Amino acid sequence: MKISFQINGVPQSVDVDENTPLLWVVRDVLDLKGTKFGCGKAACGACTLHVDGEAIRSCSYAVKYAEGKDITTIEGLGNADHPHPVQQAWMEEVVPQCGYCQPGFMMATAAMLEKIPNPTDEDIDANIVNICRCGTYYRMRKAIHRAAELHHVNTQNS
Ligand code: FES
Ligand code: FES
Repeated sequence: MKISFQINGVPQSVDVDENTPLLWVVRDVLDLKGTKFGCGKAACGACTLHVDGEAIRSCSYAVKYAEGKDITTIEGLGNADHPHPVQQAWMEEVVPQCGYCQPGFMMATAAMLEKIPNPTDEDIDANIVNICRCGTYYRMRKAIHRAAELHHVNTQNS
């Protein structure tokens, strides 16, 4: 079945089984490898990306639901010259250890900041429920607060 959507600002059409998880379309058909496979059952968050601005777990999201929607992956969040505030904060706080879970955390954080610009620790605990096997949670929390500051500055300047 042909399914069309926009991904990282670019219109795309794919011809796949409509029930294929969006994760495999993104990774294997579109060759965007930043979105990771962890558990495959919506439990770990490694596969988090945005569909119409909402953080979703793409391992458990059939591609048919993406028809006509606007998808953003970690590759489209920012770039080396213009990192997203979350990416900037992650670099400043040197968050990653092995790095595998980090794109999912950054995508979940970016979506949260659009809804909760100044999250408390309780907001972070309630909204960022991904899993990091390396236990980078402490640096991650600092980076989320720093990202909120940077996001605020960007919003004021735009
Ligand atoms: S791989 Fe999707 S939530 Fe774990
Ligand atoms: S940095 Fe290794 S799993 Fe999170």
